[in-house]
Amino acid sequence: MAMVRLHDPVLENDWHAMCLASELTDKPVGVTLLGERVVLFRTEQGVHALRDLCVHRGAMLSKGWVKNGTVVCPYHGWQYDRDGNCVCIPAQPKGERIPPRAKATPYSCEEKYGFIWVCLGEPTGGVPHFEEFADPSYKPLLCGPYTVKAAATRVIENFTDFAHLMFVHQDLLGHPDYAELPEIKVIKEKDRIYIENIPIFQPVAHSGSDKQDGTTYIYRKEVYRALSGRLSKTDPSNGQTLWIMISATPVADDECRVFMVVSRNYGFDVDDENFIRFQDIVFDQDARVIETQKPELLPLDLQAELNHRVDIFSVAYRRWLGEMGVVVGTA
Ligand code: FES
Ligand code: FE
Repeated sequence: MAMVRLHDPVLENDWHAMCLASELTDKPVGVTLLGERVVLFRTEQGVHALRDLCVHRGAMLSKGWVKNGTVVCPYHGWQYDRDGNCVCIPAQPKGERIPPRAKATPYSCEEKYGFIWVCLGEPTGGVPHFEEFADPSYKPLLCGPYTVKAAATRVIENFTDFAHLMFVHQDLLGHPDYAELPEIKVIKEKDRIYIENIPIFQPVAHSGSDKQDGTTYIYRKEVYRALSGRLSKTDPSNGQTLWIMISATPVADDECRVFMVVSRNYGFDVDDENFIRFQDIVFDQDARVIETQKPELLPLDLQAELNHRVDIFSVAYRRWLGEMGVVVGTA
């Protein structure tokens, strides 16, 4: 079935991670954002994004190739530059003017944190910041992307949730005997909501930590874009800290791709694969539940589901989405 182009004034003007930068080499890559097919390609000038549609006969540019700083349509070889201008129509006589309507829609595109980011509209700000990526006392690692058959809003709400750690991630990130949550206070600022100083007991210390037995970590969580957030967990006894940045890209109303950066200030000698594998397991545990949730679209009406006092951070997230006017992935 054809995908529907979704319109959302907030998400269209925000940045979304589309693929790993390492995946975008000398061939174009086709991705989907808010139901729109987008072609990504790399030239000497950098990375570029166009609507993945040749104006001539509607072929996908992402099925073509890159040549002399342009992306070439595989059907009749029309060439589009990074601004979407058609600069060559092989079938027309040399020197003849290219019709001005021969254009592909260009989108803002940037490479950062090992991902290729795209904004379909007018970016209202930069790519979500993540200082721990460049901090030399931290070692960043890319995880995912993970495809989830659920709304991106459901994924980010799950990120704000603590009470599932002891059940969904039982014996990894929590234990049912330690399910009681402390008082949580949400701090709301203009461009973010966050919580801090949340102690959570975990039966298995994170990979590379000095600890063998369970450790109580201090969490901090922040949502700073409609679909992006970050958290840190710190072992207060030694300062070992793990940061996780998460960005959920809305492919469709009920499908997303989740990009993650994990950055740690300890265990540099531990094989990175351990951290990636751990994140893969944890995220798979999350996805299995999230994909079953009904309704698929996150209800912003706070009466629609049972919001408990312990859900204060996810309630703040729902309220914030409503205030911003996010429509995709919400009901
Ligand atoms: Fe692209 Fe004809 S459809 S060149
Ligand atoms: Fe989880």
